[in-house]
Amino acid sequence: MSHRHLTIGAGAVALAVAAGAAVAGAPATAARPATGAAQGTTFTPGAAGAGDPYFPLAGNGGYDARHYDLRLAYDPTSGRLSGSSVMQARATQNLSRFDLDLTGLAVSVVTVDGRTAQARRDGQELVITPAAGIRSGHTFSVGVQYAGVPRVITDADGSIEGWVRTADGAFVVGEPVGSMSWFPSSNAPSDKASFDLRMSVPTGTSVWGNGVLRSHDTSAGRTTYWWHQPQPIPTYLVTATLGRFDQRTGRTAHGLPVYLAVDPSVTGSPWSTLQRSAEITDWETTQFGRYPFSATGGVVDNARSVGYALETATKPMYDRAPDLLTVVHELGHQWFGDSVTPRLWKDIWLNEGFATYVEWLWTERHGGVTADVQLKTLLAKYPASDPFWKTPPANPGGPANLFSTPVYERGAMALVALRQRIGEAAFARLLRTWAAQHRYGGASTADLLRTAERVSGQQLDGLFDAWLYQPRRPAGS
Ligand code: ARG
Ligand code: ZN
Repeated sequence: MSHRHLTIGAGAVALAVAAGAAVAGAPATAARPATGAAQGTTFTPGAAGAGDPYFPLAGNGGYDARHYDLRLAYDPTSGRLSGSSVMQARATQNLSRFDLDLTGLAVSVVTVDGRTAQARRDGQELVITPAAGIRSGHTFSVGVQYAGVPRVITDADGSIEGWVRTADGAFVVGEPVGSMSWFPSSNAPSDKASFDLRMSVPTGTSVWGNGVLRSHDTSAGRTTYWWHQPQPIPTYLVTATLGRFDQRTGRTAHGLPVYLAVDPSVTGSPWSTLQRSAEITDWETTQFGRYPFSATGGVVDNARSVGYALETATKPMYDRAPDLLTVVHELGHQWFGDSVTPRLWKDIWLNEGFATYVEWLWTERHGGVTADVQLKTLLAKYPASDPFWKTPPANPGGPANLFSTPVYERGAMALVALRQRIGEAAFARLLRTWAAQHRYGGASTADLLRTAERVSGQQLDGLFDAWLYQPRRPAGS
């Protein structure tokens, strides 16, 4: 496949060039009951958001995204990204109109099942009106041709995410909503999909996407990388980090493909911890059950302005040389976050509390302090009067608190309190059951309570309430 010939899927080829007019600012078209109206079928617009109170416009109603095929080209010098995306989706209502989430960039052509569709921009919504209504249950494909310099997104807590330019490329991280800065999607954690990413860059630059590398083809000074992610993942875990990297590939002892990359300008000794990713993945598999994806690894970039690492599916992104527990944490997320994903952002502790517990478990099993001691130490650190106790992990209060210390630490403390209550054997069973039961799915704190009660045979609502929902230190802790 040629990297310079960017098309938007078989049926849409002709339109890509012909319909050059930009859709941004095009007038809105009223939703109309199109095909099927004669038989009395009504078609209505899909909702602008997926119903998450923290991010009301993230995700979209009326359909379920299944697969994204991204075919893009990037120029690290100008920062310009261009190309196309095709989303395959299934309608969950009779749709007269539906949205994708996209910020910035210029959209030139939108097609639905290969036919030109009307589209306009409204904030982060790309509002698409197909030529004919789409019946509930039908599968359809949406092609979007677009270009521009992606804008970084600043979160409610002041941190940055999305397409973050580096000296030699970009560090691409999307939690919670950064992915809409570089491709149009249903940008909510409840709407998972598989991905193909084909990215063309100047030869010498490498691209790190999710899943396995299908091919890399070089011609005329450019190389196209094709990454394939077959298992469904939420959009916030999609990456395309690119730049100049030293790389090592191989397999874990269990046989899983491993992709490791380090930007040679990173200081410290990034390889010393990164290269343990294989061994850590295998160890976590012994603890939490079958590894959910087709590959493991990690990418260490020189992107210190970001200030955090992210558990991008199959290949965490590190903004600097990570310490060992950060690698343990991000790989732990592959089960807890990447495979079992909170349906709503308020349940983020199901990611961060679990991944912090994974650090404690690793420490306990590798000659360090026990998780019980970690709990005791933090209880001593935070007296009842400390503001730490004001943020309940399962109800952190809003997007500014998603990555606050209590979400991580009190979340993990809650899990240790639960382990002390039900015993180590039942707790280990709970983690494996949780990972298996909701594999590739969405979950909530209420789901965890149900599973914990079933696995342990104990009533645990009091413990969950005190540790996860109340804005105060649990009585008797
Ligand atoms: N999930 C990341 C972790 O493992 C943190 C992401 C923080 N994101 C942000 N936009 N501040 O800790
Ligand atoms: Zn984390």
